[in-house]
Amino acid sequence: MVHNFIYYTPTKVVFGKNTEKETGKLVREQGCQKVLIVYGGGSVVRSGLLDRVKEVLTEAEVAFIELGGVVPNPHLSKVYEGIDAAKKFGAQLILAVGGGSVIDTAKAIGYGVANEGDVWDFYDFKRQPKACLPIGVVLTIAATGSEMSDSSVITKEEGGLKRACNTNLARPVFAVMNPELTETLPDYQTACGCSDIIMHTLERYFTNGDKMEITDALAKGVIQTTMQQAVILRDNPKDYDARAEVLWTGSLSHNGLTGCGNTNNDFASHRLEHEIGGMFDVAHGAGLTAIWGSWARYVYKDCLPRFHKFAVDVMGIIDQGSAEEVALKGIAAMEAFFTSIKMPTNLHQLGINPTEEQLKILAHKCSITTHDNLGSAKVLHEADMLAIYQAANQ
Ligand code: NZQ
Ligand code: ZN
Repeated sequence: MVHNFIYYTPTKVVFGKNTEKETGKLVREQGCQKVLIVYGGGSVVRSGLLDRVKEVLTEAEVAFIELGGVVPNPHLSKVYEGIDAAKKFGAQLILAVGGGSVIDTAKAIGYGVANEGDVWDFYDFKRQPKACLPIGVVLTIAATGSEMSDSSVITKEEGGLKRACNTNLARPVFAVMNPELTETLPDYQTACGCSDIIMHTLERYFTNGDKMEITDALAKGVIQTTMQQAVILRDNPKDYDARAEVLWTGSLSHNGLTGCGNTNNDFASHRLEHEIGGMFDVAHGAGLTAIWGSWARYVYKDCLPRFHKFAVDVMGIIDQGSAEEVALKGIAAMEAFFTSIKMPTNLHQLGINPTEEQLKILAHKCSITTHDNLGSAKVLHEADMLAIYQAANQ
């Protein structure tokens, strides 16, 4: 049976070459004249994008201040800095020029300005935000889908706590998506981004409960297209059409489309990865591929029809032998793909060597943030989380 669902995607997407020129108009459409521009470690300065955005804002008579220096796995301290600056300036909209880390910081600032009290409460499960300033995006990487998603992921430096706050309030009001802007990405970040896109789709695919054929078909399209285009980009990073394909699959993979009609989503690999990112500051997409195979082998028997369908329908495995054998071949094929685009499939390849004690801390933290009840393919508890971390650390 098809599960009831709400599909809410309020983001106006403006896609294609030179679309950053529309940014001033898009801000004005929101009735806003004062914005805080948020950006990262400097790629948008070096590419000239930031100057171009500032120029079109000025032309549209939009006043702005800037907050640069957002790091990957973005920090809470930068969020506080942004909240102070935005309040003093009277910002009416937060404009993220960058990737997921910048967008998530913009969302957190939006929450902090629009609500009383400590913004971390929303990431620490203490309170729910009641409002958020409008968020606009000029996207520079195909990866998280944050440009259309309800999610913001922030790391509190003290304790390395990487946590998400998910509400529809923070879905961006507009997203400017020019594939050319992603051509300056390092190859590693391109591959990390493509992996994240695939993972957002898999997290909604491997679930127990109701399903919808159209959703499976869309998920298959997103996964296969991203895999094909990731290989094209590995060999030719300047391929505009491939850049465009993954820029759009990125948004579709995390705006809710590939979960419609499914009872649950899983997101265990994501939650396991977030703890790794909080402790070791790794690139999110690489952290995901490093853990996914270990997770999949741990849970597949509890979600066998889906793993079998994935193997045959998505990965093109011949349906011969037992369902378990076919499912395992599907998992191996996905891992082989990750390897082919130079992504890690274990923690050592990710560049970290956690001690047994650190693995226990990761599992314990993950258990706390998930109330010791994680996933849908198989519900995981702390001992399961530890077993998966250990398997990924072999
Ligand atoms: O900081 P700059 O100098 O801009 O460099 C960035 C950064 O070093 C660089 N980069 C981005 N666009 C570029 C570029 N370099 C050259 N040319 C460009 N066009 O890439 C590096 C990574 O940037 P980042 O924003 O961290 O990448 P991504 O978009 O993968 O975001 C990752 C963060 O988002 C979270 C992750 O956990 C992680 O913290 N996620 C957010 C989600 C959401 N809000 O919906 C969902 C995801 O599952 C994820 O958890
Ligand atoms: Zn992700």
